[in-house]
Amino acid sequence: MGRTLKDKVVLITGSGSGMGRSHAVLMAERGARVAVHDIDPDRVAETAGLVREAGPEPYEICVDVRDTDALRDAIEDTERAYGPVDVLVNNAGIGGQGLALGDIDAETFDAMFEVHVRGAFFATQAVVPGMKARRAGKIVNISSNFAMGGSHFASHYAAAKSAISGLTKCWARELAPFDITVNAVAPGLLETNLTLGSIGRERIAAMAAEVPLGRIADPVEISYAVAWLASAETDFMTGQVISPNGGVSIIGI
Ligand SMILES: NC(=O)c1ccc[n+]([C@@H]2O[C@H](COP(=O)([O-])OP(=O)(O)OC[C@H]3O[C@@H](n4cnc5c(N)ncnc54)[C@H](O)[C@@H]3O)[C@@H](O)[C@H]2O)c1
Repeated sequence: MGRTLKDKVVLITGSGSGMGRSHAVLMAERGARVAVHDIDPDRVAETAGLVREAGPEPYEICVDVRDTDALRDAIEDTERAYGPVDVLVNNAGIGGQGLALGDIDAETFDAMFEVHVRGAFFATQAVVPGMKARRAGKIVNISSNFAMGGSHFASHYAAAKSAISGLTKCWARELAPFDITVNAVAPGLLETNLTLGSIGRERIAAMAAEVPLGRIADPVEISYAVAWLASAETDFMTGQVISPNGGVSIIGI
């Protein structure tokens, strides 16, 4: 695969670990200039180190996507210091797998929507004026296969990810006249800090056994989809939710 993202400024929220880190490294390998955003300063520094080995010098910033004013300021800082954002990946997320309906209190419910929905909403709101003025831009949202087939133990998470899929379709319509595309990737299960912290290794292994392809994804297999949606190869694609999930949506688990 060539340098399909050469010189593009790609801002990835929550890129301090897991899939966000993998997206950052892959896109840097493909020539992108990556702005690493995360709530955790150590994770920001670790990802930035890996990005530096893979491609152009990254931009590093520590920000909580739940704090809308701080998020706006961080995006403004990024654009001022590093250049206009060509691609936004709304990736920051928290886990909630393993919780039944009766176990989800109001605080847990609100936190889920604050990180995933409010975070993605206001990050997008911050980059769109510049994209509109330039009549170019790509937004890649991270949903989940739980938003497609449901889940028996994470309804607040699936609801937040369903909102992400809905926002993807709305923004795709609203921003198409400005040549801005908006798509989502809805990954199946992976082993990351998020799932290790919520359901643990044993349950992940049990769920992996149910996947038609017989395993869970490696993070980079999700990054390939994200990098593709960030590239000019998908200029005619908008409002789509694509789901690398090993076939789980075929059998509906
Ligand atoms: N792991 C899976 O099975 C799976 C499946 C489908 C979708 N997803 C989604 O993929 C995305 C990445 O998750 P992951 O599995 O790589 O998990 P992860 O925990 O490795 O990464 C999430 C990152 O988001 C950061 N973050 C959390 N809250 C934040 C906040 N308030 N502000 C800024 N950054 C914040 C964390 O510090 C972390 O670095 C999430 O949106 C998640 O919901 C994960």
